[in-house]
Amino acid sequence: MSSEDGTSEAIALAAEKRWAYVVAGIIVILLAMMIVTGLHWAAMPPSRVETIDVNTVHLKGEFVESNLGTALGPDGKVTVRLVAQQYSFVPQCIVVPADMPVTFRGTATDAIHGFIVGRTNANTMLIPGFIATFTTRFSRTGEWLMPCHEYCGTGHEAMWARVQVLPPQEFLAKAQAGERLDCVSR
Ligand code: CUA
Repeated sequence: MSSEDGTSEAIALAAEKRWAYVVAGIIVILLAMMIVTGLHWAAMPPSRVETIDVNTVHLKGEFVESNLGTALGPDGKVTVRLVAQQYSFVPQCIVVPADMPVTFRGTATDAIHGFIVGRTNANTMLIPGFIATFTTRFSRTGEWLMPCHEYCGTGHEAMWARVQVLPPQEFLAKAQAGERLDCVSR
């Protein structure tokens, strides 16, 4: 009787040990995942990450000069592409429609810049090597100042662009006429 008890006790102990190893293993795996993802994210800007080669921004791809500014896509989506550099934005004046979603895509070539558009919620940082993207909607027509709001060097306070918000009909008429979407003087 006592020997049987001893055997089942030994079996139970062995089973407990096995499960203890399994649990310890799971904890080690979870900790490793936390450490790896923590380090990975610590090295990235805190938004969706899209990278770009700083050395070829001006030469090829999405941010060549001829592709900058506002574009109305075949799907009807409005996209603004811009580049920030010491100490200006390209383009210097951006045309957008009111009351339509507008997606900004921007990057920087030399230092960390940023911008905010007047008293709207359009606000982002532009970091060399990364593409910043956000979509917003301008509720009022008019002209806003768009200053750089990250200290980027001695010319920082002189770095700004303008944003012209047109009535949607006027914007769409210009865009569909194939006109370049430049700012209009008013
Ligand atoms: Cu660019 Cu401050």
